[in-house]
Amino acid sequence: MSLSTVPNSTSEAGPQVDVESSRAWWQQAVVYQIYPRSFADSNADGIGDLRGIVSRIDYLTKLGIDAVWLSPFYPSGWADGGYDVADYRNVDPRFGTLEDFDLLVQSLHAVGIRIMVDLVPNHSSRLHPWFVEALAAGPGSPERDRYIFRDGRGVDGSLPPNDWPSHWGPQGWTRVEDGQWYLHFFSPDQPDFNWDNAEVRQEFEHTIRFWADRGVDGFRVDVAHGLVKDMSEPYQHFTSFSPLLTPTDGSHPLFDRDDVHEIYRGWRAIFEAYDPPRMAVAEAAVPAERIPLYASSDGLNQAFNFDLLFTEWSAAEFRTAISTNLDIASSSGSPSTWVLSNHDCVRHASRYALPPGTDRNAWLLASGREPSEDRSTGQSRARAAIMLLLALPGSAYLYQGEELGLFEVANLDVATLLDPVWTRTLHTEKGRDGCRVPLPWRAATDNFGFSAGASPLHQPGWFADFAVDAQEADQSSTLALYRAAISLRKQLQGRDVLAWVDTADEDVLHFTRPGGWQSITNFGSSPVPLPVGKVLLSSGPLLDGLLPADTTAWLTSTA
Ligand code: NOJ
Repeated sequence: MSLSTVPNSTSEAGPQVDVESSRAWWQQAVVYQIYPRSFADSNADGIGDLRGIVSRIDYLTKLGIDAVWLSPFYPSGWADGGYDVADYRNVDPRFGTLEDFDLLVQSLHAVGIRIMVDLVPNHSSRLHPWFVEALAAGPGSPERDRYIFRDGRGVDGSLPPNDWPSHWGPQGWTRVEDGQWYLHFFSPDQPDFNWDNAEVRQEFEHTIRFWADRGVDGFRVDVAHGLVKDMSEPYQHFTSFSPLLTPTDGSHPLFDRDDVHEIYRGWRAIFEAYDPPRMAVAEAAVPAERIPLYASSDGLNQAFNFDLLFTEWSAAEFRTAISTNLDIASSSGSPSTWVLSNHDCVRHASRYALPPGTDRNAWLLASGREPSEDRSTGQSRARAAIMLLLALPGSAYLYQGEELGLFEVANLDVATLLDPVWTRTLHTEKGRDGCRVPLPWRAATDNFGFSAGASPLHQPGWFADFAVDAQEADQSSTLALYRAAISLRKQLQGRDVLAWVDTADEDVLHFTRPGGWQSITNFGSSPVPLPVGKVLLSSGPLLDGLLPADTTAWLTSTA
């Protein structure tokens, strides 16, 4: 049964999708991010692919997720793990074909799982035909106007048009043979589009329809705050990409400008023309108070809230992050989105295993051959954190491998790194490859069952202990916990609100949810009493009826 159609009979076999909830399915969804290169490989070339994902549908079903978000699988120069797209309406041959994509959509829909794809509208690849045409057509041409080309400064134009940096390097401009410069937020392989150009706007509307017509349920919008730029002269000066330093009045020349929402209003109209409507989540690095502009009823549906991803293991900090985002959610009318990990950050089991305040880049660079973190603490906290997150109102975005409790692969040989961060920062930042190592499926199989061929990002020997088959045989495994927690959340999740319960202990976070569900987390170092109620699930064993350190429990609200 396709999720695009609504069943008209409750006796129909297979997953049922209710009309009302299907319109807003994303509001309380558990979404699982798949980084295709590292998930599962079906053809032994050492690169994960779409048929590899199809071969693991059973795994996704057992996990109990509502949707998959697929990171880019489009033809690409792979200068930034696929976030450098050369053709927005096709599949990279290394990942498969459009027919494989259709098979994936059908296979997911058949088991009641929706699919979101990544849309990368801020920049293309240098290999995109439009950029190739822009280089050939020369200054002042309509082809060049699809990107942001400018003359340089100085007598011979050999200085960049201004001093804007890029994300991973001191200079946001690169010079081409005829002497002009083009703008890129990220690497020189990722030229920024000119969103004042009508063709660019039409092209993306076409792309959205193309995937929506193929049954895609939603989109994750990359760098959603960056599309509209103020290129008027004199150029404004800025030095940092941090949302904390971005003005909150939309006056930054490159990010979070108010006009960007006109684009999203147009996209929303396209989404709403489908039945059920398509949706989108914005990746927008903006100050918290600007989030509702993205997660709005006439713009994109949701915006990522990355606060928990930046929060240290502390009850007070978690409470602040949660309260702030619940307030934002109520002012935007769009439930929050909770994230502990994704393909851009050190895995949270490792983050919690490091002493507070650790410089993670320095740790990655120094970690040598053996892991140096306190894994037992990291594991307990990661398990407690996910139960806390899954008890929150709103949607939960999970990253592949966190359900296995994977730690960062910190000791990757620098000669094998793929992330452009390593080269662009002149080997001062190790980058994001440590969370992108292929998943371990079978403990005793070559390449841990990921592929019959080895991946360029080497899987360490300790992955054996984290393999899916090893965890399936163990009721106390992290995988078993994720399956149980997601399933229970589905039964318990009611209205989208939470009430804090004040506790005597400042290291304890306790809240109730409508329908008689409560969650309590002990961030401290000694066991604490549990509230009255029947324990439904806990992230680790209880200790003589007490809640141990670094543990979350869910309880009914009556004894
Ligand atoms: C955000 C993506 O998550 C990241 O992986 C990518 O490098 C940048 N956007 C540029 O597309």
